[in-house]
Formats: sequence, structure tokens, C-alpha cells
Amino acid sequence: MIMNNLDKHSKDWWKESAAGIPNLITETPGPKSKIMHASTTRYMKGLSSQVKLFPVCFEEGSGITLTDVDGNKYLDFSSGIYVTSLGHCHPKISEAISYWAKKLMNAHDFTTPVKEKLMEKMAAILPGKLNAIQLYSDGTAAVEAAIRAARAITNKHEFISAYRDFHGKTMGAVSCAQMYRGETHSYGPTRAAGFYMVPHPDPYRPLWTKADGTIDTDAYIKFYETFLLEGTVGNVAAFVLEPAQGWAGSIFPPEDFFPKLKKLCDKHKILLYDDEVLAGMGRTGEWLTLNHWGVIPDIVTFGKSFGNGFPVTAMVVREENGEALELISASSSYGGNPMACAAALASIEVIEEEDILQNVRTVGEFFMTRMLKMKDQHPIIGDVKGKGFLLGIELVKDKKTKEPFDEAGKLVYQKAFRRGLAWIPAGHILRMSPPLIMDEKYATMGMDIIEEAIAEVEKEFGYK
Ligand SMILES: Cc1ncc(COP(=O)(O)O)c(C=O)c1O
Repeated sequence: MIMNNLDKHSKDWWKESAAGIPNLITETPGPKSKIMHASTTRYMKGLSSQVKLFPVCFEEGSGITLTDVDGNKYLDFSSGIYVTSLGHCHPKISEAISYWAKKLMNAHDFTTPVKEKLMEKMAAILPGKLNAIQLYSDGTAAVEAAIRAARAITNKHEFISAYRDFHGKTMGAVSCAQMYRGETHSYGPTRAAGFYMVPHPDPYRPLWTKADGTIDTDAYIKFYETFLLEGTVGNVAAFVLEPAQGWAGSIFPPEDFFPKLKKLCDKHKILLYDDEVLAGMGRTGEWLTLNHWGVIPDIVTFGKSFGNGFPVTAMVVREENGEALELISASSSYGGNPMACAAALASIEVIEEEDILQNVRTVGEFFMTRMLKMKDQHPIIGDVKGKGFLLGIELVKDKKTKEPFDEAGKLVYQKAFRRGLAWIPAGHILRMSPPLIMDEKYATMGMDIIEEAIAEVEKEFGYK
């Protein structure tokens, strides 16, 4: 027996704490939040724009709700930051972590009973013999491991990523990401040698189009092939890509992109590394977002939802390349500790037991229908995008020019937060990442709040 009493919760465990939300009893951010944030930021620097635009202090989370230090209760449309996807403090996951917190917190990279179970479970759920696994404790470390793994597998050293992808903040990971963030070269002065970027296919803002005006995937692939031959030294180990761009605004490529890219990779003996840290583990209704397009990557990384809030991440390669991982030893101080394995194992079990993938598909369609309706009715909504619970609403000044409407994005974010919606956006694309347990009732509540905020902002800017 590895853990106790883990199955004694109902699938509806989160509904009791959700009753009556949003429940705001002070202005928000409230007086205690303001004081606490001011004293924290005397020392703590470099916070995200989300926090700067709405400096609330949270002290409790349960299911789809967050409560701040003033007692205000919010509907959560962010899952932390794509992290607590099965709800804050899911009883099974919290209990699994606390069981090992009391029994064995760290045993280096020795095998433990819970690690054995996690390995078996991961091998069972992942497609196509993706079953050579290493565990880490943040997404960036898993990405760095993937870069090392690609080099070990191919004996090549160059990497190609896409404009506006994001993979983390260490040197290798940041070299696969956009470095210039609009105001400053925040990750410069340059990317590491041998790391290149190519245009990402964004169907709303295509660089190359077919005669009918829709995005021309073949033109992207053709450019990539030319770039391989002309722009590199012929030593490309892998394409490093998010399956859907999360940070950039829930931007999904056209349906035929990954199948065609995989063909190109195979032709040139290049690995396809699929960074599913943000989009994987059920967020789009599949274990891997690439599953939607029938593509099996050579390398994949998981994070964020993987431990539902506990820091645990994974880097996985195909069985036939598993031996190469011996060259990049997996041991780290915290990677794969018993609490981490317990969190990941319990999270996967919850996805299975609570039929979460099906909920994401069903409620995801509901979200998309609602967003499409909103797009028809609002002059500043240029595009809506997403799959499952990875969603975006793109705000523009004019539907014809598609000029990004950053000022509106900021205001909508603040106004919706003030109405009790804890969420992510900060730029012109409103990003939504609700907990995957959410049903249509609360999905509607969140979208109503967002739509009211958009309508108010439109009025303020003189639309309609
Ligand atoms: C696609 C992707 N990869 C890697 C990372 C880095 O993960 P972490 O913040 O856990 O280091 C992120 C974080 O947002 C991400 O979105």
C-alpha cells in the first residue's frame, strides 16, 4: 500500500467552495492586499505584468476559486498560470503529496515505490513508445534536458524555434524564445550560437497565404527547408516548438502544419521536439496537443499541470533513443522526489478517474461557440482561438487593419478582475486557462464577466 484514502472524494468535490462566487466584500484589490503587496515589493522585483496591473494578494485556493487576504472570492480562469489544472488543492493530489511529505521527501534519484508507479503510468498513457523518461522540477530544466537529449541523440548541435515561442528563461531555453519583449532586450544581448528562429504560422496573421487568403502551410514548410539549407551549418538537431503558443496568446497553427513539419524533419533527419509544458496533460483535451493532429514527436516535455501545482516536470524521448539519455544523467537535487512523483501520479489518475479529457472537449466546444458569438457582436474582437481550455480573444483597434489593441487588453483585464475573475491576460490577446474540472455553468459565468468588461471598454473608447 503506497498511499491512504486517496479515492474518497467525489468528482464534484469543488462545487461546494464554488457556491456563491464571485463574492466581493471590499473594493479589489482590497486594503489588506494593498498593504501586503506594497511591503513585499519593497524587496521583490521583476513581477509579471498581470500582478503589476492587479496587485491582489491571495491566501487560499479551492477548486475553481481563489480567495484574497481581504476575503474576496474569485472565479479562477488562470489555473495559477496553466498549473493547477485539476483545481486548487485537489483532495487526492494534496493527500498524495502530504503522505510522502511525512514519509520520505528526498532520496536523490534512487527508485521509490511511487516513482515506479509513475513510470508505468506515463509509459501507459503516452503514445508511440514515448517511454524513456527523466524528471525535473521546473519546465525550464526539462527544456534544457531536451536540448541536451537532442544533441546526445543526433550528435548535432543546432536548433530552430519559432517567432514568439516561449520555452523558459535559462540560456538554452531562452535561446529558443522571443528575446525582445517590446520595451527592452530583456533576455539579450543575444541567443546562444546555433539557435535560430523562423516565422510561426499564425492563421489570423499569416505571412504567406493561398489564393483564397487562408494561411499557406506549404509556404512555411518551404521556407523552413530553404532556411535549413541556407541559414544553418547543416547540423540541426531539432525543431523546438510549442504545439500551440501559450504565452504569445493561445495561437494554434493550421491543422496541417505539424504533420507537414514532421515530414520535413524526417526527410532531413531532424528531431521534432514538442514542448508541451503549457499545453500538455489534458489542457486541450488530449494528453499531448500534438495528438490532435496525429503526430508523435521525438521529444516531449511536460510541466505546469503535470503535478497540479507541485513542482514536477518531465522530459520524454522515444524508446529507441532512450540509451542516449545515459549520456545526460537525469539526477538533480529535486527531480523525481517522492512528493513530486506522487503529485504527478495522482494528477494523471485524476484525469483518468474524473474523465477530464472528455470534459475539456465538451466544455471546450461550448467556450469556442460562445467566443465566436462574441466576435460577431464586438467591434474590437478581431479573432478568437483555442482548443479545449487553452483559449484566446484577440483585441484589435480595427477588424480590417488588425492593429493590436493593447490598451483595451489591459483595461479588460482589470475590469474583469474587479468583477471577480482571476485570470491571465496583459497584452492585446486575452488569455484564458480555466481549471479543467470546470462545467458550463462557471464557464458561462466567466465569459459573461469578460464580455461585460469588453463592452465597457468599447464604450470608453467610443465604439458602438
Ligand atoms: C511552453 C513552455 N515551456 C517552458 C516553460 C518554462 O517553464 P517553467 O516556468 O516551469 O520553468 C514555460 C513556462 O511558461 C512554457 O510555457
